[in-house]
Amino acid sequence: MLRLAESARTEQAARSGRLNKRGGHVSEMWSHKPVRDNRDVERVKDATDIVRLVGEAVSLKPKGREFVGLCPFHDDHNPSMYVVPGKQIYHCFVCGAAGDVLTFVQKFHKMEFREALEFLATRAGIVLTPIRASAAPSTGPSRRDLVAANEEALRFFQLILKDPEHGREARTVLERRGISPEMVERFQIGAAPDRWDGLVLRGRQKGIPEETLLAAGLLKRREGGSGTYDVLRHRLIFPIHNKAGQPIAFGGRKLRDEDEPKYLNSPETPLFDKSSTLYALHHATPTIQRLRTAIVCEGYTDVIACHQAGFTNAVATLGTALTAGHARELRLRCDTVVLLFDGDDAGQRAADRAVPIFFGEPLDVRIATLAGATDAKDPDELLRRPDGASVFAAILAKARGLLEYRFARLRARLKDAGPAAVEKAIVEEVSQLASMGLASATPVRRALVEKSLAELSGLDLATIRRIIPAGRAPSPVAASSGTTTPAPLPHAMPLATRESLLGCVLCDGALWGVLLPEDRADLTRAAYPWPVLDRLAGVVQEIASSGTVPSIRALSLEDPEVHAAGVVLMSRVDEQTDRGGRLRAFFEDCVRQLRLERANVEIKGLSTQVAMLKKMQDSHRDLGPNRRVLPRPG
Ligand code: UTP
Ligand code: MN
Repeated sequence: MLRLAESARTEQAARSGRLNKRGGHVSEMWSHKPVRDNRDVERVKDATDIVRLVGEAVSLKPKGREFVGLCPFHDDHNPSMYVVPGKQIYHCFVCGAAGDVLTFVQKFHKMEFREALEFLATRAGIVLTPIRASAAPSTGPSRRDLVAANEEALRFFQLILKDPEHGREARTVLERRGISPEMVERFQIGAAPDRWDGLVLRGRQKGIPEETLLAAGLLKRREGGSGTYDVLRHRLIFPIHNKAGQPIAFGGRKLRDEDEPKYLNSPETPLFDKSSTLYALHHATPTIQRLRTAIVCEGYTDVIACHQAGFTNAVATLGTALTAGHARELRLRCDTVVLLFDGDDAGQRAADRAVPIFFGEPLDVRIATLAGATDAKDPDELLRRPDGASVFAAILAKARGLLEYRFARLRARLKDAGPAAVEKAIVEEVSQLASMGLASATPVRRALVEKSLAELSGLDLATIRRIIPAGRAPSPVAASSGTTTPAPLPHAMPLATRESLLGCVLCDGALWGVLLPEDRADLTRAAYPWPVLDRLAGVVQEIASSGTVPSIRALSLEDPEVHAAGVVLMSRVDEQTDRGGRLRAFFEDCVRQLRLERANVEIKGLSTQVAMLKKMQDSHRDLGPNRRVLPRPG
């Protein structure tokens, strides 16, 4: 019911162009930059299907006349993003993100309004009315400028690759490595010429300010300050695209053995955040969504070899470990991630690093290594062999669950170990897992860990559970004090009566008004199991007493930790009430329970008083007539 009211409001706001805060910054943009052609905006909106657009970013499932998926704008674990095709809007039931195709692109791809408009226009084959240059003073290159510079550089590198002279060596390497012309085209592979001023000259010729090429990390200033030079020289160029398919960086592989380093990559820029970028994600997304599985390789050439061999759900990290940022991108698209490593030791290290990421994400992480199955050193080398694809497929099929992989090492350690060694190993493993975030794992994951440890050690479950609390101990209090980023409220936290009621109020602020003053006093009484909830309750009360209806949106103006806790409570209640359908009944049950608990506490208090009064009564009765009650006069 909340959902319908919300979407109606959103739609109204979208129609009147007032969508901001939650959906984007439309009104701001309208007022600051009056250079926009309204008809362009309408044409682009009409030509874009929101289900397709959002569906390319997030896996959507039909639900009635709507579509649902994980919301990409908050740490969503249960699908709470609704896309309403009839209204061409999306909105998140939990974090309140909402808007139309334009706000979605702006927010998801972190684009400015005009950039988003151009992005959608290009997709739809619409030519926009050119904008009059605005007289506003520029403050350094914008994201659009940087993308444009990268696009120009990409075209330049592609031209060089085709150049009879300057591209010869690079073409030879591609041929020798068996990279097909289709893949060269698809991955927009290029070459940087063997000179210091290739891109410098090209930039001048195309009227791209040096400042922009410098900011994009493509040029560097000469020491002493006069003039610039190309960063990428004499290299095979692998453009790196963002999920929207725009070039944001380049990886350059050396062509001469003696050059160093082997790969020279663009530095991080406002466009390029290494820790959340996956190579080839824009190409791999449709297959990843279809198979609900992604393959994460180690290198650019491995990804290209995979795609060439038909494994088109392959992506790669950019020479870094898998981060939470990568995991987030992946879980919006699939359920299973296969991390593919060249060697077993790299796999072990990566497994260790992936455990903390995996505990917090609804993703099944599996580990596969080439070691043992083939003598090829990486997927690229393997897939070039005649039977490569089938060996590769077998390796993927044999991928083991992350914990299983981790425990295999423990199993080896426990083999033939005496009781003391077993105890030491298990205690160590448990404490390591605890420090990696076992506490925030879902109950199902924790149960699996406990079961595996029991099987491995030959100990019974009860014993394992007794060891775990020591490690699980990062109590909410300890976790949220003294650190700058306290542990968030675990999504799977148990909901006691008071937590449930707070969640209900956040789902529908009007419920606060239904509560009795005593109920509210109960809810705002401190000493929740998580201190952040004490603050949350206080903030809800403050909001209500200032005359505003409490809501998750009102909370978003408060500190982010409190907001995040509110989102967790709200989504838990949402889950338990069939997405709000049974909210009222659930709320009433909780109120009854709260009052019952209060009555119990009061009865207990009164019983104690009665007992005390009885004692007093008895003592008066026992006092003999000759015992003094009043002090002696004088
Ligand atoms: P590899 O050394 O395994 O290279 O590095 P590769 O991908 O197999 O390349 P070829 O087959 O020898 O040409 C794996 C990944 O690590 C990053 C790159 O992303 C590379 O694809 N890397 C490697 C760097 O960023 N810099 C380096 O100097 C080396
Ligand atoms: Mn390789």
